[in-house]
Amino acid sequence: MTQRYFVTGAQGFVGRYFIAHLLAREPEAEILGLGRSPANVAHFTHRVHWGDLELPAPLPASLDIARDKRYRYIAVDLGDRAGLDQALRSFRPDAIIHLASGLRDDPVEELFRTNVEGTVHLIEALAAADISVQRVVFGSTGAVYGRSSLAGRPLDEHTPCLPLDLYAASKLASEHVARILTERHGIDAVWARIFNILGPGQDERHFCGKVAAQVSAIRGGQTGAKIEVGDLSPTRDFIDVRDVATALATLVRHGEPGEAYNVASGLETAMSHVLDLALDITGLTGSVAIEHTYRRAADIPRAYADAARIRDLGFAPAYDVRRSMSDLIEYYCVTVRSSVPGA
Ligand SMILES: NC(=O)c1ccc[n+]([C@@H]2O[C@H](COP(=O)([O-])OP(=O)(O)OC[C@H]3O[C@@H](n4cnc5c(N)ncnc54)[C@H](OP(=O)(O)O)[C@@H]3O)[C@@H](O)[C@H]2O)c1
Repeated sequence: MTQRYFVTGAQGFVGRYFIAHLLAREPEAEILGLGRSPANVAHFTHRVHWGDLELPAPLPASLDIARDKRYRYIAVDLGDRAGLDQALRSFRPDAIIHLASGLRDDPVEELFRTNVEGTVHLIEALAAADISVQRVVFGSTGAVYGRSSLAGRPLDEHTPCLPLDLYAASKLASEHVARILTERHGIDAVWARIFNILGPGQDERHFCGKVAAQVSAIRGGQTGAKIEVGDLSPTRDFIDVRDVATALATLVRHGEPGEAYNVASGLETAMSHVLDLALDITGLTGSVAIEHTYRRAADIPRAYADAARIRDLGFAPAYDVRRSMSDLIEYYCVTVRSSVPGA
């Protein structure tokens, strides 16, 4: 029975939801979280907007785990091999969920240092610690399929991985080094290829966060009735961060060693539909100007997963895109708004 969880990227978006998921459902769980930043029980490490005001992203109430004695956090960089050795030897985890990662738009050196070298350090530290961990789940991304998405078919785990940007390339490289090293050391591992995440508190680098911030600010009277978006024709496979947490827990228990799993809804959703939902939820349909002002490099027109493999393990998403967008907008209108100084 897995009880001792070592979670890297613990103060990140997915890490926080995954840890809250474990604490809520597994009374026996003991969790050690690791990240670079000092412990922070009030905010994510990214920032969000309320109108023109930029502020640290407050944690939703569901992520308030500060007083739970079963959770501890340590600040150790993945580049610090001695720090990793010490953490693993003293905590002796049953399972490791590796979510610490550089993300798209990070400088290339940092992407490869964190995603590839950092993963090597973690596995080597685990092997050196000589503990029989039952399972390692490596966080990866659906972006590894890259150019294969251009065929317009659902992406299953046999689809060739042909990354289109350096972030995806660093994550695929990380998958490869982790596979080689875990086989060499006899470590049981699975890979979670996570598609487009949305949910309360997400970074506005991502489309749903950017849209939710803007409609909420209009609704709250902070800005004029204008929304800036990019090309709305691409489709993506959106999955709620709370479902990602459930999927990761499923992979800890039931994933087949050596396999990669798409963590996705299996549904193709147009960006334009997400915007329509956001306008409908806020009652702004037909009353705002939509300005097409940006476009991301190397964008792909369609990308969605075949999620049969993880569904066969018993996982099914509980949140649809409407519910997720509604909760994300509520996060702005209640949690972000009330954390504005002087609110
Ligand atoms: N968010 C998405 O839309 C998305 C989509 C697909 C896949 N994924 C994957 O899901 C996983 C989690 O992503 P996320 O959205 O939770 O990202 P996130 O919010 O940026 O969290 C990642 C965490 O990694 C930590 N980290 C980065 N470099 C580190 C280092 N050198 N040493 C120790 N910790 C380090 C950061 O810690 P500090 O904050 O303490 O610096 C950060 O909190 C990643 O594998 C990512 O590739 C995410």
